[in-house]
Amino acid sequence: MLSSNLHEALTDQMNYEFYSAHVYTAMASYCKSENYDGFSSFFLAQAEEERTHGMKIYNYIHDRGEQAIISGFDHPNNKYESILDAFEKALEHEKEVTSRIYNLSDIARDEKEYATISFLNWFLDEQVEEESLFNGIVQKLKQINNDPTSLFTYDSKLAKRTHTTFVE
Ligand SMILES: [Fe+2]
Repeated sequence: MLSSNLHEALTDQMNYEFYSAHVYTAMASYCKSENYDGFSSFFLAQAEEERTHGMKIYNYIHDRGEQAIISGFDHPNNKYESILDAFEKALEHEKEVTSRIYNLSDIARDEKEYATISFLNWFLDEQVEEESLFNGIVQKLKQINNDPTSLFTYDSKLAKRTHTTFVE
């Protein structure tokens, strides 16, 4: 059994992970429309990963004897000024996810819900990796500074990322 407060907070985060998949699919679509297939497939792999994060929480909620309530969410942004802009927005998004996981951890700690604290530790570790990944790409794109040759080379490099393989 989870408290109603924690059940609600976990459900909210589960839906935010599914929303994240939607956000990254929109970013993939923008990159593809700009003919950067590598950045596009990178974002699609990220979208897949976000869906597994959502399902991880879904399974946890059910393991604790509650129902995972699926909700709708806001429209993701489909317009970006540049590839750099899309990755900067992705980094901002990951920072928002991190602060949400921190808030969730605070609730679990206040309730002395040790199982949930342990469950959330995986997400805390994951967020360190996610922020580092996107920050690294943003820094690289700033160095490239819109140089077309370098940008297409980097696009090809990021195309090699799959759902389970990170390139960077
Ligand atoms: Fe996530």
